[in-house]
Amino acid sequence: MKPIDEKTIETLITAAREVQSRAHAPYSRFHVGAALLTESGEIVTGCNVENASYGLTICAERSAITRSVAQGSGRPVACLVVGPTEGPLTPCGACRQVLHEFNPEMAIICVGKNGSKIVRTAAELLPYSFGSQDLDAAAKG
Ligand code: THU
Repeated sequence: MKPIDEKTIETLITAAREVQSRAHAPYSRFHVGAALLTESGEIVTGCNVENASYGLTICAERSAITRSVAQGSGRPVACLVVGPTEGPLTPCGACRQVLHEFNPEMAIICVGKNGSKIVRTAAELLPYSFGSQDLDAAAKG
């Protein structure tokens, strides 16, 4: 895990709070924002986007990842997540899987409204993970 300095964390919190305000969450009213930091220092944000067909909802973290891939941003080294709860909001299982795909050593920084933080790598949040190595192993027989 690359250590992220306090000033960068504050910049990521501001970016995540800003995009959180644009969440499309009329059903849950649970607004989430995520800010990725890439290895080149770029910040890429995403918010949750819900749908009347509930299952089509995309979370903030996956929204940020898909945006970073589409615009050719580099490998993410950190993903900061903010939600509406007092304590830190940690990514759902689907988002853990997707974040892990792009960098298992990525720092996942979860920040509550009260300022408390949980910081873990994507690998720590997804033990015994499924990944491309399993597909490779099956292909080799
Ligand atoms: N949500 C996220 O965006 N990220 C998470 O890590 C947890 C949940 C969203 C999905 C849905 O729009 C709302 O929060 C309630 O589950």
